[in-house]
Amino acid sequence: MTNYLETNKQRFLDELLDLLRIPSVSADSKFKGDVRRAAEFVKDKLTAAGLDSATLYETPGHPIVYAEKIVDASKPTVLVYGHYDVQPADPYELWKTPPFEPTIRNERIYARGACDDKGQFYMHIKAIEAMMATDGLPCNVKVMIEGEEEVGSDHLGEFVKEHKDMLKGDVILISDTSIISNETPSLETGLRGLSYVEVKVTGPNRDLHSGVYGGGVANPINVLCQMIASLHDENGRITLPGFYDKVTDLNDDERAELAKAPFDLEEYKRDLAVGDVMGEVGYSTNERTSIRPTLDVNGIWGGYTGEGAKTVLPSTASAKISMRLVPNQTPDEITELFTTHFVSIAPAGVSVTVTPHHGGMPYVTPVDSVEFEAASKAFEDAWGKKPIPTRGGGSIPITALFEKELGIKSILMGFGLDSDALHSPNESYGLFNFYKGIETIPYFYKHYAALKQ
Ligand code: BES
Ligand code: MN
Ligand code: MN
Repeated sequence: MTNYLETNKQRFLDELLDLLRIPSVSADSKFKGDVRRAAEFVKDKLTAAGLDSATLYETPGHPIVYAEKIVDASKPTVLVYGHYDVQPADPYELWKTPPFEPTIRNERIYARGACDDKGQFYMHIKAIEAMMATDGLPCNVKVMIEGEEEVGSDHLGEFVKEHKDMLKGDVILISDTSIISNETPSLETGLRGLSYVEVKVTGPNRDLHSGVYGGGVANPINVLCQMIASLHDENGRITLPGFYDKVTDLNDDERAELAKAPFDLEEYKRDLAVGDVMGEVGYSTNERTSIRPTLDVNGIWGGYTGEGAKTVLPSTASAKISMRLVPNQTPDEITELFTTHFVSIAPAGVSVTVTPHHGGMPYVTPVDSVEFEAASKAFEDAWGKKPIPTRGGGSIPITALFEKELGIKSILMGFGLDSDALHSPNESYGLFNFYKGIETIPYFYKHYAALKQ
């Protein structure tokens, strides 16, 4: 197996680079054809790897790619999930090399999707190819790669409900998360949920001269800023009534366990070029970004933002706001709480609308399962170290749905780094991580098949 990887290293990389050249941006309809091209590419590579019946399943949005290899119906089945769509690459001018012209610098692949998630799900296709070309698959494998993860997996839920038999399996294996560092491998045991809303504040019925009317009527941008500022108190707590009602605090032992993960605050600050960190009082940075819920403005606009000055008092102002949720919070309830509160704090001089976007449930996976043990042993074999369990801050909403609809737990065996700049300009993925992932995945199959005996 190691030999197979050694011999085929360059080809594996070249294929990934070809995939990265396809701008499969799911959010932007001008890339619709490219998104499909990426799906076709994945389908062809699944077939080339030796999987059966690779198919594009149409949805009202982007297609879902599925293939499988059933070696023995009495053996356990691993369902691999990933996404071939990527986030928009904007702002383009901040990329050192173009986002869809993958470039290798300092042993890293720079491209949109390099880590999230093309580089990561492609490791699975190559690991499966390697297993099939050498010792054979120790379990059955099903692979489902979707094209709408970055826009909320709107059509995957329906697809899963309609294909429960086809997707039947014993564990879901996902590489779409991070490890602590290349020296300290880790396995995420949870993901946050998400509630995402867009708000619009409307004041006067038209843009006004800011001298003639300024001071006399509510300025929607001023009002929106005040409303947003009031959503946190001086301790960094979110002020929405009822927001924390269902949040359960971890006990001291659980917190102590999580605190064992190495973390260098000075390095963290240096990396982000910030003078200090900020967040909810009473919690560490790691806790703030994993086990605590948050509220953040993701975008805000209104008025004149072009070159030079235009003295105008705008008619409207808008913002996009994300809330990351932790276990027991649900996106529906939180969106409802938010809407009621946000509308209630608007002054009489403006009107407010709240439009919900996609959401997702938080997810936790047990650590006392054979699945987790198999993943842990796989890291030990490949990295020479036991992975540290961590709770992740990002969201993969479909994990909760897989559990609900298929009754299957997910193992989050990600190989990225937080510093890979996911969703940012100059996203990258280490060649080390790409190859180490291809090496680690077959160990998971080996241990999983053995433990399930
Ligand atoms: N792969 C990420 C999620 C992630 C990143 C989890 C790093 C853990 C560590 C995924 O592609 C993603 O970006 N999810 C979105 C949610 C979605 C509904 C748009 C997110 O977390 O913002
Ligand atoms: Mn992802
Ligand atoms: Mn993403």
